[in-house]
Amino acid sequence: MERKQRLRIAIQKSGRLTEDSLDLLQRCGLKYSRGKDQLMCYGENMPLDVLFVRDDDIPDLVQEDVCDLGIVGINVIDEKRLAMSARGTEPGFELVQRMDFGRCRLSIAVPDDFAYKGLPSIAGRRIATTYPNTLARFLRENSLEAEIVTLSGAVEIAPRLGRADLICDLVSTGSTLSANHLREVTTVLESEAALIRTPVPLPDEKADWVRRLLLRIDGVQQVRESKYIMLHAPRSALEEIRKLLPGSESPTVIPLEGPGNKVAIHAVCRENVFWETLESLKAAGASAVLVLPVEKMLA
Ligand code: PRP
Ligand code: ZN
Repeated sequence: MERKQRLRIAIQKSGRLTEDSLDLLQRCGLKYSRGKDQLMCYGENMPLDVLFVRDDDIPDLVQEDVCDLGIVGINVIDEKRLAMSARGTEPGFELVQRMDFGRCRLSIAVPDDFAYKGLPSIAGRRIATTYPNTLARFLRENSLEAEIVTLSGAVEIAPRLGRADLICDLVSTGSTLSANHLREVTTVLESEAALIRTPVPLPDEKADWVRRLLLRIDGVQQVRESKYIMLHAPRSALEEIRKLLPGSESPTVIPLEGPGNKVAIHAVCRENVFWETLESLKAAGASAVLVLPVEKMLA
């Protein structure tokens, strides 16, 4: 009963998304202690617990109402949706939003010595993957026939073991491929991390925490690149300077004491501010330019 009062979010146990997912939750203000079994973290200052699981299990856990939320790659979400629609069922989870981390791609890769001459080279071959439905869609869309060898892991060693001729797997840095003498030849799907939630209505208090958490996640995403910029400039340069500030809406303009017609301009820039921008600002008449990181933002 106690658990029903607390939110539970599933994240990847060990993999590409683990660190960034935990980092996001911490930036949302979550302080937690790790359970003895290392499978769970208990939120100390929010009614939110984190469950560490295999990423492929995350949609099911949300669907089965074991977890209210999950952070998982679009690759897993798409595969799950396709698998379900092939069985004529609807997914029991909703995509809330995509995140700005965990970018990778699902790609086809061939052994280094494979004579690849474009997509027709894979026709009739055996392709090992943990994404059979996504791969099947890709083959269909490209009017290709090939044998899909569905594995539950260690796809990259399948060609060496003679279980397949080539593979279809996730590529992020590409180091897994090169360590296994494989070469990426074409992209099947672009992916990044996303937040999913249960479509089941939650009790008020939990629903309220979900709402707060989503607002905080938005805030975290917005500040990652954002900068607060402050500078002095002659009032006559205001228009030009305004145009130079990347991704800022309406800057605050404050008249400065003393002779002359100088103003201080403060603005939040929703993009990174590069040295080139500072140089252009200076050329436009700006002085005393300060660029500060933004820690939190609430629209
Ligand atoms: C994926 C994939 C590779 C690795 C590729 O694993 O299966 O093992 O990332 O990354 P690289 O190009 O940087 O070497 P993931 O963390 O998604 O976990 P998985 O075992 O569930 O696929
Ligand atoms: Zn996985």
